Amino acid sequence: MLRIAVCVSGGGTNLEAIFKNIENGTIENAGIVRVISNNKNAYALTRADDHNTEGICISPKDFETRDEFNEALLRGLKEADPDLVVLAGFLVNVPECVIREFKNRIINIHPSLIPSFCGKGYYGLKVHEAVLARGVKVTGATVHFVDEGIDTGKILAQKAVSVMDGDTPEVLQRRVMEQAEWIILPDIISKIASGEIKIG
Ligand code: GAR
Repeated sequence: MLRIAVCVSGGGTNLEAIFKNIENGTIENAGIVRVISNNKNAYALTRADDHNTEGICISPKDFETRDEFNEALLRGLKEADPDLVVLAGFLVNVPECVIREFKNRIINIHPSLIPSFCGKGYYGLKVHEAVLARGVKVTGATVHFVDEGIDTGKILAQKAVSVMDGDTPEVLQRRVMEQAEWIILPDIISKIASGEIKIG
């Protein structure tokens, strides 16, 4: 079984999509062994609980220095002994020590078609605000390996989504989730679990 650790910060709808696809058998031979949130109030932690999965909070606020937080995050991941780390709406810069430890074993979902609307400052709703401000007609989502840069790792999957007249950032965010994120993230995890995509 592919042991998956999922890192989250907020609502956890991508986490929910992974649980759903494991539970209905679309993702075979994989299980979520731990959910880590940097935010103790993240609804994603409630979702983990609802699926009888361990959810823990490791917050920078609970440490005096960033280095201490980084080490705690590394420890929290290592304890779970994952084969794959999934960043599902994890709005924290992943420290180098974590990237080194899990080289080519961390994937991220980003809510745009990389290399558009990505990098520093582009996360969550801000991505969709920028898409609407620029007036592009097509956006989407990307699943990629995580390397030392921000949103620079090898791309594994992308799916395009139309921008509609009158979209608000919230409406567009929901469409990108429904039509792209909740599909391509579980699909890539399934391909990793089956060995079709190699990691590590
Ligand atoms: C998702 O749209 C995800 O793509 C985005 O945050 C949202 C989390 O929603 N991630 C990033 O912007 C990473 N740069 P969720 O908690 O409901 O899955």
